[in-house]
Formats: sequence, C-alpha cells, structure tokens
Amino acid sequence: RTFLSLMGAAALTSSMMLTGCGAGSGDDRKIVRIGHVQSQTHPDHLGLEAFANYINEKLGDKYRVEVYPSELLGSQTEMVQLTQTGAIDFVVASNAIMETFSAKYQIFNLPYLFSSVEAYHEAMDDPKVTDPIFKTTSKAGLETVAWLDAGTRNFYTIKTPINQPSDLKGLKIRVQQSPTNVEMMRLLGGTATPMGFGDVYTALQAGILDGAENNELALTDNGHGDICKYYSYDMHQMVPDLLVANYAFLNELSDEERAIFEEGFQIVKRTEQDAWEDAVAEAKDKAENEQHVNFIYPDTAPFQEAMAPLHDSVLAANPDLQPIYDLIQQHNAAHTAD
Ligand code: GCU
Repeated sequence: RTFLSLMGAAALTSSMMLTGCGAGSGDDRKIVRIGHVQSQTHPDHLGLEAFANYINEKLGDKYRVEVYPSELLGSQTEMVQLTQTGAIDFVVASNAIMETFSAKYQIFNLPYLFSSVEAYHEAMDDPKVTDPIFKTTSKAGLETVAWLDAGTRNFYTIKTPINQPSDLKGLKIRVQQSPTNVEMMRLLGGTATPMGFGDVYTALQAGILDGAENNELALTDNGHGDICKYYSYDMHQMVPDLLVANYAFLNELSDEERAIFEEGFQIVKRTEQDAWEDAVAEAKDKAENEQHVNFIYPDTAPFQEAMAPLHDSVLAANPDLQPIYDLIQQHNAAHTAD
C-alpha cells in the first residue's frame, strides 16, 4: 500500500511536470485527473474511458482527461482526500467511503435498503432521493455527479460456507472503511476488519481474514476467488459507486463547458451500467468454472432480520434522512407490486 501510494504520488508529480499546464511545453491544456481502484477491464474504467474520449473530443483544446486505475493514486479514501483538495479532479469512490465525509451518505449503505434491482435503479435515478445527499458536500470541497452500479454485496469466505448469520460468528471479515459496515458486522456477530480494497487479497492470503464481502467481480478481477471458495448470496447491500468531483473544478467551468461535462457524466453512467450485467455474468462463470468457487443461495430473511436495527439507528441519528428513506420505500413498493 505505502509503496503503491508512493508510486502514485511519483506518477502524479512526474505527469504534472511533464504534461501539466504549460510548463514550457507550449501546451496549456488543463489535465483533468480521475482516480479509481478498479482494473482496466472493469465497467467503472470503461465508463471513465468513454468520458475521457468524449471530453477530449469536445473540449480537447482546453482539457485533457487522464484516467488512473488500480489505486495508482492511492486508496479510495486517499483519493477522495486528493479530490477534496483539488490535487486531482475526480474519483470513483464507493458510497460506503463517502459516509466519513458526510453522514448523510449512510442511507445508501443500509443493508436491504432496496427491495429489488429495479427499485434500486429507479430510486438512484430520482433526483429527489439523491440531490439532498450528492449536493450537500460543497463545504467539504466535493460534489457527487453520477452514481454507478456496483451490484449486490455478498459474503465470501475461505473455508466456512455461510448458510445463516450464525455461521459468521467469530469470523474476521473485511469490510469497507465505513462505520455503518462495522456496525453491520457487529449485528451479525462477526468481527469487522475495515481496510482499503487493495489490501484485501494479501490479507486473505496471509490468513489475517476469514473472508470479505463484495460483488462477484472481486472474485475474478481482484483474484479473491483464488483464495475464497464459498460465495454466499445473502444479498445484504446494493452500495453504489459514485463519481465525485472537486467542487471548485465544477464551479469554475463556463456554462458551455459545464453542459458538456454534464453530458459526459451521463456517458460514464450509461457506459458503466450497460456493461455491468455482462461483467457480473462473466465473473460468475469464471469463478465457478476456473476458480472453483461454490455459489450458495441461503434464505436471506434471517440475515435481513439481524441487520434491521441499523435502519432505526441510522434514521434516529440523522432525522433529515427520514423523508428520503420514505421516498425510497415508495420506489420499493412500486416494484413489489410488479
Ligand atoms: C467494489 C466497489 C468499489 C469498492 C470495493 C471495496 O469493488 O465497486 O468502489 O472500493 O467494492 O469493497 O472496497
């Protein structure tokens, strides 16, 4: 991690010196830097590449977008901090990470918040649900400009198949660095081990962890399925990834530029979401047939029951979230009736 961070910092500094604004090169385009944690085949990266192409084509005389994958610029938390200060301009961060920058983001980290994928997509596409969260971090220097699909999160383990919540008792499970996720593991009786995504593989390999929780792409793209042979569809969370911008960068754009960037944000979202379903199907196939991961389909009700108290505690601590929570329930109800 430290080594990678140093590498990231070095890459950033040299790219700033070589290609940064002017610097004697006669090139006065602004370099727009976007950092993320995923591989170059991940849907997030495909969406950002489409964005880079679009901006470079429309505004290439003024801006050049550069996408840095694979935690090259640091962990997600570090990259959100870099975005906050304007050292980079955008980051893709999990909603889970954002709750340490603004408590309101806790709402989308609640387990079993959405009753179906359809309800999830419709709620996340409803500005009445997302604006009060995404547009309230300007004081922290940040604004969320698009949500990206990150599928459904499930538990996976090295040797203990998880069929019911009590199977998690005493297991060390990696969670994202989010208080809500730590509390979620406490309610299940497991031991939460928060760490950055890039450290999980080594920790699993070293036996520091008994398992983790994530979507299917973590098994293949990140190799976790080489070590963890049980993936259990308890379906506990649909936590979106978010494209988060430096607030000053957005607000310094002219109206025309802003309109082009806004179209670009829709391109990231559409490209990412269009690629998602196939990426999951491919990952599942590879995990099953090449990594020999066993997929388990437990009854999800006992998991949901164990995690239910989190809804009440998060709402009690953040009463402003109640109207948004109620709106989400309307989206849920609309789809239960389908
Ligand atoms: C998913 C998600 C990432 C997140 C990661 C994690 O891959 O898309 O944004 O960082 O999970 O568990 O840390």
